[in-house]
Amino acid sequence: MFVVSRIASAASKRAFSTSAANLSKVAVLGAAGGIGQPLSLLMKQNPHVTELSLYDIVNTPGVAADISHINTKSVVKGFTAENEGLKAALEDAHVVIIPAGVPRKPGMTRDDLFNTNASIVRDLAEASAKYCPNAHFLIISNPVNSTVPIFAETLKKAGVFNPKRLYGVTTLDVVRASRFVAEIKNKDPKDVNCVVVGGHSGITIVPLLSQLGESFTKEEIDALTHRIQFGGDEVVQAKNGTGSATLSMAFAGARFASSVLDATVGGKKNVIEPSFVQSDLFKDQGVEYFSTNIELGKDGVEKIHGLGEISDYEKDLISKAVPELKKNISKGNSFVQ
Ligand code: NAD
Ligand code: LMR
Repeated sequence: MFVVSRIASAASKRAFSTSAANLSKVAVLGAAGGIGQPLSLLMKQNPHVTELSLYDIVNTPGVAADISHINTKSVVKGFTAENEGLKAALEDAHVVIIPAGVPRKPGMTRDDLFNTNASIVRDLAEASAKYCPNAHFLIISNPVNSTVPIFAETLKKAGVFNPKRLYGVTTLDVVRASRFVAEIKNKDPKDVNCVVVGGHSGITIVPLLSQLGESFTKEEIDALTHRIQFGGDEVVQAKNGTGSATLSMAFAGARFASSVLDATVGGKKNVIEPSFVQSDLFKDQGVEYFSTNIELGKDGVEKIHGLGEISDYEKDLISKAVPELKKNISKGNSFVQ
């Protein structure tokens, strides 16, 4: 009896360790940067993460040593390009979050970053295709409207593209929308769930304020729409040449990554987040990627939500966003092709 119960208890321990094996390796590429550091700090607090793999071309040993002292259970490892660091950082990764690349300075558009960031993202995509082709890839590097197509085309070239597992991170737009609407309506932002669709730059960012069930004056709609579309510029100007949003982006990136982990590792249902993903919504107009709310499941994107009912004002915003998105996407596609 004693033996049986010991076996049973060993079996239940094994069952426990099987569910523990569900926990995951998360890699952050660009981990020593303005976004990378606070994002890594937030991911260190995520209970799903077993291993936090921090890669950058500079300074990762220090960042990793620092974060590794935090008393949560994940193991932290830091890598640079030396000694095949990228390979080690990526192997077995379940989620790869990519904020590598240069940020804007005042007067620049996100598209002005293309020349520098396109090749950084392509190179990281090539390595990802080789070392962790089945991972979930979360792209933060700008211009997102072009870097997502670059990442996709590179994975396609390697024959490992899975559209359910490639996400352009647009969460910061909904975080901002929720905050800005709450400010003028005197509400708690957690009660303001504003859908933002389109892409992630200027006029391609389309907040669907009409779906909030709030009444706004025309001036409020104009002002809010402009602030949400150009919220990034507010931070770029305030930082005055030292970079763009990092802390709010880390917060938004960690929220999105946590949702991906909740759905893919934790088995949580009804996980809905916005993301710039391969989508059929505007495919007939030559736009292969579009951001709407998506439902996340065990394998990644499970369902892509449509726009729902939208106002004429929003229809007009979308009609302006679509041609711009088409340009940004084909620029990314051509870069790889
Ligand atoms: P940053 O310059 O502070 O950090 C970027 C990091 O990337 C640096 O540490 C750099 O060494 C690293 N890096 C450069 N090349 C690399 C490579 N080949 N491999 C690995 N790491 C590499 O910049 P940041 O403020 O952290 O912004 C990073 C990117 O995120 C920018 O392109 C910025 O525009 C973008 N961004 C996107 C959003 C969004 O909503 N998606 C929001 C804010 C910023
Ligand atoms: C943002 O929206 O804050 C980011 O895309 C960074 C930027 O360049 O504005």
